[in-house]
Amino acid sequence: MNARSITAQASPNIALIKYWGNRDDSLRLPANGSIAMSLDGLQTRTSVAWEAGQAADSLTLNGIPTAGAALARVTNFLDLVRALAGFELHAKVASENNFPIGAGIASSASAFAALALASSRAAGLDLDEAGLSRLARRGSGSACRSIPGGFTEWLLGTGDADSYAVAIAPPAHWDLADCVAIVSTVHKPTGSTVGNTLAGTSPLQPARVADTSRRLDLCRRAILERDFAALAAIVEFDSDLMHAVMMTSTPQLFYWQPPTLAVMAAVREARAQGLPVCYTVDAGPNVHVLTEASRAGQVIEFLRAVPGVRDVLRAGVGGPARLLP
Ligand code: DP6
Repeated sequence: MNARSITAQASPNIALIKYWGNRDDSLRLPANGSIAMSLDGLQTRTSVAWEAGQAADSLTLNGIPTAGAALARVTNFLDLVRALAGFELHAKVASENNFPIGAGIASSASAFAALALASSRAAGLDLDEAGLSRLARRGSGSACRSIPGGFTEWLLGTGDADSYAVAIAPPAHWDLADCVAIVSTVHKPTGSTVGNTLAGTSPLQPARVADTSRRLDLCRRAILERDFAALAAIVEFDSDLMHAVMMTSTPQLFYWQPPTLAVMAAVREARAQGLPVCYTVDAGPNVHVLTEASRAGQVIEFLRAVPGVRDVLRAGVGGPARLLP
């Protein structure tokens, strides 16, 4: 245990093959394996201090003391760290994001990756990458992919012990860019946690899950061979497939808005004209447009011209979660 405050930093990630649905909701064991790219330049920084004499955990988000559901989720997570460390202390947690929440970038991924690293270190635990990734997974499934850097794969595993993310290629392997077309910053009506519990209500989910190893193989190979055309084909297919499950869940989850479709059409058109681009959409209306870094300027320019696009954020391929001095 370390009474000092420990600070960790982690990047969010964009799934290229999506995680959607759990086989165990409370352990966050996914229905299918997934592949992601860590996003450089966007990050969460989280400081944790375990303090004797504090009656409950406290949470400050971007400088604002926060209670309610966000604190409850953090406390549930810290219970796991308390159990691992074998003590009952409470923690002061302060977290800051340098990117807007609600911008269609999963802040829970970087948040729980940074919290897993900072809280475990401050508790005197020295978890290896797999151990940290497993721990982060319990806070938010996609967070396990924000522990290793670069291109990562979250292994399905057989249970809690072997479901974690590993790096499949380092950040320098392929200089890609994610240009995020922001079409709305309104908070989504149904977040991923509830959405994940609804995946199984769609009759399409079993077909999607059964087809996963084929998609993972195609995506992994496209990354390892830096084959953008192959990557584009499988990434768009996988995103559309997840949204087909979402749209056919009960209750229905429909995240696309008219500008989402306009961006998708513009991306297909740009690709037909020879630009290496593809889209992928998470549980919201904003569109992640992937391209080679050298073409990002051109991509941002055409995205800004699509009606309904309010802003475009740009990220490169990010590194692993790390401790800050
Ligand atoms: C659509 O990891 O955000 O972004 O585990 O409940 O926090 P929780 O869900 P989360 O779900 C991510 C869903 C997704 C696809 C993906 O990132 O793989």
